[in-house]
Amino acid sequence: MKRMSTILAVSIAMTTFTGPALAAEHGEVSKVISKQEQQKMINVAHRGASGHAPENTMGAFQKGFEMKADYIEIDVQMTKDGELVVIHDTTVDRTTDGTGKVGNLTFEEIRQLDAGSWFSEAYAGEQVPTFEEVLDAFRGKVGILIELKAPELYPGIEEKIADALIERNMNKSNNGKVIMQSFNHESMKKSKELLPNLPHGVLAGAGWANVTEEQLAQFAAYADYFNPTMNIVTEELVSDVHEAGMEIYPYTSRSQEQAFRLFDLGVDGIITDYTEHVYYHPVKNQ
Ligand code: G3P
Ligand code: CA
Repeated sequence: MKRMSTILAVSIAMTTFTGPALAAEHGEVSKVISKQEQQKMINVAHRGASGHAPENTMGAFQKGFEMKADYIEIDVQMTKDGELVVIHDTTVDRTTDGTGKVGNLTFEEIRQLDAGSWFSEAYAGEQVPTFEEVLDAFRGKVGILIELKAPELYPGIEEKIADALIERNMNKSNNGKVIMQSFNHESMKKSKELLPNLPHGVLAGAGWANVTEEQLAQFAAYADYFNPTMNIVTEELVSDVHEAGMEIYPYTSRSQEQAFRLFDLGVDGIITDYTEHVYYHPVKNQ
């Protein structure tokens, strides 16, 4: 899957949600494009559909699935007693009613926390999911982009994650249904050895704004994706990533305008809190 080759950009009109209206508001002429063309922009629901439901909960993942994201993105960490759990911060403070570091709490302690009320009372009682629960609920239904969050804090997490995938035969083929990624690039090298048939990605923060072609070539030795903060994405970066043989899914789009900009730059996928923003392609150069 590579970026759209046409200069005559088009606007996607999916059958659900308010896309055509959004495109019109964007002030651009649009036409419906084919399903095949639509599928060229990969739509990743960041921490689930986290603009609509509390991040990294089953509710957010279900919402992402219902909104027809291509992937749900999940952040995996490990409890004090070795359970893999899905939560973004290295403490539970922001997204639950508890306090403390994920790695200092037992699974039982984390499981008692309310991970939904901070977002909305409608989600009161949501729990911090386990990694295996997410795999079992969503495999075969939607792709899963698995981020190893701060793996340096959790020795052995790469093996535990690999074991869970292998147990479920989710390591077998490079079919795009599971992608591994991390800001910790050494962790990705290790994971690639454990899961050689799964695609891996390197996450890149603002410090990688001037990443060189040589560095990209080094990443490409074990990675299939270079996924940077959207703030450093330029046409040149997209081109360099493609030249290196990788794809690029920037994070994290939170407005329609940001998604449109990424479409224009020719990225392969968009990691977004608002799945509905990635249904549509802006019209340019008419
Ligand atoms: O998928 C990439 C993105 O999730 C990385 O940033 O902080 O949201 O985990 P963060
Ligand atoms: Ca993440």
